[in-house]
Amino acid sequence: MLIEKDYDLHQVLSVVQHEIHRAAMDRKHPFRYVALGTSNDTIAMRYVVLRKVEKDFKLVLYTDHRSGKVDQIRSNPKGQLLFYHPQKKVQVIVSGIITFHNTDGVAEKHWQYVQGEARKAYCSVQAPGTPIDRPEEAYEWDSQMNSEHFAVLHFEPTSIEVLQLRGLEHLRAIFEKTDKWKGTWVVP
Ligand SMILES: Cc1cc2nc3c(=O)[nH]c(=O)nc-3n(C[C@H](O)[C@H](O)[C@H](O)COP(=O)(O)O)c2cc1C
Repeated sequence: MLIEKDYDLHQVLSVVQHEIHRAAMDRKHPFRYVALGTSNDTIAMRYVVLRKVEKDFKLVLYTDHRSGKVDQIRSNPKGQLLFYHPQKKVQVIVSGIITFHNTDGVAEKHWQYVQGEARKAYCSVQAPGTPIDRPEEAYEWDSQMNSEHFAVLHFEPTSIEVLQLRGLEHLRAIFEKTDKWKGTWVVP
């Protein structure tokens, strides 16, 4: 369990944020892979890797700027991140605003953390989502392996909701930026 019934709301928020911080540093943490939801005229969800947690709890994700999610974020920057920890039985939904960085100082800084073969994930010759006749057609990468297509997504939370499963007495709390993150318990 991550959240206990006798925790105050301040403690709940800080425990949740701490656990998400840990996930960005621990490759085996269940929060490391997180479902990112975006929407414009349709809803789209996909898993991404939580790469870093920066100042003011800004969450950092990496992608290829040619991918569908970037098109969606361009037309609607609102998104959600959905985490679940099966051992601690806790779900966290973070809603927020996403900004993306490509070929700028932020992207260049993070590109230095992507080393060697890992860079291939952002250097395919054909853009992600391009229809192909055979899988092999996708396995061609830019010879220079530069940061041209690499994008950093900055996810700035506007609300954080936590649901702790515990038998028949679940715990649920919601924290809003507009409420200065004070938070409130809600019926699960
Ligand atoms: C466990 C897992 C982790 C993933 N991590 C990333 C990631 O960090 N960044 C990314 O762009 N895609 C990642 N993907 C691939 C996306 O889920 C998705 O298939 C791809 O980015 C295209 O999505 P889009 O068309 O909605 O942009 C991951 C997939 C899985 C299954």
